[in-house]
Amino acid sequence: MRLSGKIAIITGAASGLCQATAELYAREGAKVVAGDLNTETLDAVAAKVREAGGEMTAVQTNIAIREQAEALVDAALARHGRLDILVNNAGVLDNFSKRVNGAIIPVDGGWTTC
Ligand SMILES: NC(=O)c1ccc[n+]([C@@H]2O[C@H](COP(=O)([O-])OP(=O)(O)OC[C@H]3O[C@@H](n4cnc5c(N)ncnc54)[C@H](O)[C@@H]3O)[C@@H](O)[C@H]2O)c1
Repeated sequence: MRLSGKIAIITGAASGLCQATAELYAREGAKVVAGDLNTETLDAVAAKVREAGGEMTAVQTNIAIREQAEALVDAALARHGRLDILVNNAGVLDNFSKRVNGAIIPVDGGWTTC
């Protein structure tokens, strides 16, 4: 296992890229502390990870609010005593309408991440 014993905070883990990242990290032995706005889905992801033998703690977090971001870090430190990895991926993607030479060009300020 490539991440055995590593403590990883992952934001946006209820869906998409970071759900896949959280599941992969847990399979590789990381202890994942995951934050997302969507608690219901995040809890379901954490349950799936645990059923597969991995470790994942779900913390409802709006990463755009400083106090909630700090509370996510505090939760990881309280549970595991240290941090090794941060994957700060939570965000939204909208209003992309142009591609130039394969690159996505944001239109009307559409690239919105936390
Ligand atoms: N999917 C793509 O092709 C692509 C390409 C380039 C960049 N991105 C970026 O990667 C990130 C994830 O993309 P995705 O496709 O996996 O998105 P997704 O919508 O599947 O997942 C995003 C997750 O972030 C959570 N989230 C949103 N705002 C949040 C907040 N303020 N606090 C906590 N959680 C929040 C959502 O609840 C959701 O679970 C985004 O920032 C997106 O802009 C995605």
